[in-house]
Amino acid sequence: MSKYLIAGNWKMNTNADETRKLVSELSASASKNQEVEMLVCPPFINIPGASELLKDSFVSLGAQNCYFEEKGAFTGEISIPMLKAFNLEYIIIGHSERRAYFNESDDLIAKKLEAILNHNLKPILCIGETLEERNAGKTFEVLKNQLDIDLSKADLLKISDMVIAYEPVWAIGTGVSATNEQVAEAHKWIREYLENNYKTEAAKIKILYGGSLNHANAKEILAIPNVDGGLIGGASLKSESFLKIYNTAIELS
Ligand code: PGA
Repeated sequence: MSKYLIAGNWKMNTNADETRKLVSELSASASKNQEVEMLVCPPFINIPGASELLKDSFVSLGAQNCYFEEKGAFTGEISIPMLKAFNLEYIIIGHSERRAYFNESDDLIAKKLEAILNHNLKPILCIGETLEERNAGKTFEVLKNQLDIDLSKADLLKISDMVIAYEPVWAIGTGVSATNEQVAEAHKWIREYLENNYKTEAAKIKILYGGSLNHANAKEILAIPNVDGGLIGGASLKSESFLKIYNTAIELS
């Protein structure tokens, strides 16, 4: 198992040409490193193109969402088997933008997580509190509620394939990351939650930090105990900034 996962969440950015350029630049620089895994998650429509270019590279491929049913009358949705056909390993679920703009509930996220594990792919489950919730002292209550429901259907035998991304909503895309103390406290709390529920498997579950992670703060944040990598939005859209974070992880590993 690698020590760090450095994951790019491209969100609704990059057209086909931009995807080709970015993927080519990243795959040219990613090395076979046992300690650090690089992952990119382009928009659905550019997954086939990215998959082709990444075939013999050391960069992993992921999606930003999926539906839990395998096929059928679900207009506009994409199933896990459709994604799996493109050598994809990871699927992000429960991102705060999907929770906020598309009304995704924890019950729906639980079904997606169950289905992804059953298909032997790796879900990256995003959790995190809003600023109001943090200011009201409810951070851990919110995280517990999200984890309790989101993990309620997970196959315990596959649980170590799961990745958790702690993403305080107020830190996403704002340029203001959580402080080192806030990151340390939240990641420790999540690790303890996993230990209480999954015993020895808990140590194998990666916990990523997300929210304005960039090349300037990566060294400090990735060095915090229980931080096993990053889920990176804005800074993953330019190869130069994403590679700086990746190389920082290599230095630290
Ligand atoms: P950001 O996004 O790095 O632009 O803050 C992170 C995310 O939403 O996953």
